[in-house]
Amino acid sequence: MSERVALVTGASGGIGAAAARALAADGWRLALHHARSRPPSLPGSAAFKADLSRPGAAASLVRAVVKRLGRLDLLVNNAGAVLGGTDYLSVTEREFDANLRLNLTAPFMLAREAFKVLPPGGRVVNVSSIAAKFGGSPRSMAYAAAKAGLEALTVSLAREGAPRGVLVNCVRPGVIDTPFHGKFRKAMRPRVAKIPLKRMGRAEDVALMVAHLAGPGGDFVTGQVLCVTGGE
Ligand SMILES: NC(=O)c1ccc[n+]([C@@H]2O[C@H](COP(=O)([O-])OP(=O)(O)OC[C@H]3O[C@@H](n4cnc5c(N)ncnc54)[C@H](OP(=O)(O)O)[C@@H]3O)[C@@H](O)[C@H]2O)c1
Repeated sequence: MSERVALVTGASGGIGAAAARALAADGWRLALHHARSRPPSLPGSAAFKADLSRPGAAASLVRAVVKRLGRLDLLVNNAGAVLGGTDYLSVTEREFDANLRLNLTAPFMLAREAFKVLPPGGRVVNVSSIAAKFGGSPRSMAYAAAKAGLEALTVSLAREGAPRGVLVNCVRPGVIDTPFHGKFRKAMRPRVAKIPLKRMGRAEDVALMVAHLAGPGGDFVTGQVLCVTGGE
């Protein structure tokens, strides 16, 4: 496994960094994508900076990884964010589109480019959100729609990948304790109280599911959405 290369997008964030560490522990060589923050420092890894909201950035990123590391065996489509956060009655078309671009278009373009180089046994793991199930808040409808779209894309891509032995799955995190929640973290207590397991998830909880799908445990799994949601 030591020669195999995994690209983790958003590796500078909570879940992405944890996924990168879990994959490194399993012997993967990491391509660590980041935008404004720094990714973790892992032996043998290489960092790649890109704003995935920009047209063409996703395909360029995959090409840069293959050029520098020689191959690609696993794509973890993890980068994502709620952009703007304007209430739905005021949200602009531009803000709505920006959320779709980062959370749906970019993962699709990354996967499309990856499909050109992934070998048989290659994998894509998409990171969606519990928002795909509940529809998000009035300030994150576009994000929720994008994540629901990503879950649908997982099924389409799994169908396309199957004949060539490429497996595509999705991990759906619930409420996870990462910088994603920013200044709203404390205000989330009532939301956390609704989670059957009565706590926020840890980034590692999600990371271990990503690593499981990337490893031998995922050999006969494709087109699925795995929930790491504390029971939601
Ligand atoms: N935390 C949760 O409760 C939760 C729940 C459900 C789903 N998720 C999903 O899990 C994934 C990871 O979230 P997280 O909790 O780890 O959040 P996070 O700590 O805020 O990390 C988000 C990552 O996405 C990257 N990113 C943001 N905007 C980008 C852009 N325009 N171009 C490229 N990269 C960009 C960030 O890069 P920089 O920091 O380098 O800018 C960062 O690495 C996201 O897809 C998120 O939607 C999170």
